[in-house]
Amino acid sequence: MKIYEIIFSPTGGTQNVADVFAAAFDQEAELVDLTDYAYDFSALEIEKEDICIIAAPAYGGRVPAVAASRLAQIKGNGAKAVLIAVYGNREFDDTLVELQDIAVAGGFTPIAGVGAVAEHSLVRQFGANRPDEQDLSELQGFAAQIVELTKADVTKALELPGNYPYKTFNGVPAKPVVNENCGGCAICAWNCPVEAISEEHPEQTNYDLCISCMRCVSICPNQARALTPEMTAAFTQKLAPVCSERKSNILYI
Ligand SMILES: Cc1cc2nc3c(=O)[nH]c(=O)nc-3n(C[C@H](O)[C@H](O)[C@H](O)COP(=O)(O)O)c2cc1C
Repeated sequence: MKIYEIIFSPTGGTQNVADVFAAAFDQEAELVDLTDYAYDFSALEIEKEDICIIAAPAYGGRVPAVAASRLAQIKGNGAKAVLIAVYGNREFDDTLVELQDIAVAGGFTPIAGVGAVAEHSLVRQFGANRPDEQDLSELQGFAAQIVELTKADVTKALELPGNYPYKTFNGVPAKPVVNENCGGCAICAWNCPVEAISEEHPEQTNYDLCISCMRCVSICPNQARALTPEMTAAFTQKLAPVCSERKSNILYI
C-alpha cells in the first residue's frame, strides 16, 4: 500500500495543506507534481489499496485547467482519494466538486473532501500567513478523522458542495512582468507549469500560455518578476470586500 500526494501547487500553499494530510499516515508519501510539464501522468497506475491525497488551488472557483487535464490522465483503479481545494480566503466555489468529478472519472474512490485556506497567491495580504497555527491544528484534526476513514469500507457516497454548470473561468487579466534584476538564470522557465517562459530568453513570456499562477514570481532568486503595482492595486481593490474576513477550513466526510 502506498500513499500518494498528487498536487498542483505553484506557490506552495496547496502543498503546505496537503503535507498535513500526508503526514497523518504512518508511511512516507510519494509526491506526484502536477506542475511538472515533462512528466507522463498517463503512465501512472495507482493500485486499489493505495491512498491518494489530491490537492489543487481554486482558480476562479475552479480546478486550474492544466491541473485538471494532467490529473485526468492518472488511472485511479479504485484507490481511495482525499480531495483538497485550497483557496485564498475568498471561496472555493466549484473546485471540490470538479476535483471529485475528475477523480471519479479517473477511477478513484473519493472518501473525503477538504476546503482549506492559504495565502492568496495574487495578493498575499489576503489569507496572509495561512495556514497558521490554528489552521494546522484544525487540519491535523481533519486528517486524523480521514485516516480512521481509510481503515473502514466506504459505503456512503461523498457529497461535496458545488454547482453545475461549473463557474466559468477564463483567467485573470494580470501576468507577471520582468524587471532589471533578471540575470537570465532561467529557473523561472524550468519551473513554469505551462512552459510560458523562454529558457534562452527568460525575460520573454508567452502571455497566451501564462496562467498567472505566480510560480515564477515566488521562485525567482532575484525578485525579478512581479505583477505591476497597478495590477496589484486593482486586485487588492477587487478582492478586499470578499477576502478580508477570516474564512474557515471545512471537512466533508
Ligand atoms: C489565477 C488565480 C485565481 C485564483 N482564484 C481564487 C478563487 O477563486 N478563490 C480564492 O479564494 N482564491 C483564489 N486564488 C488564490 C489561490 O487559490 C490560493 O492562493 C492558493 O493557495 C494558491 O495555491 P499555491 O500556493 O499552491 O499556488 C487564485 C489564485 C490565482 C493565481
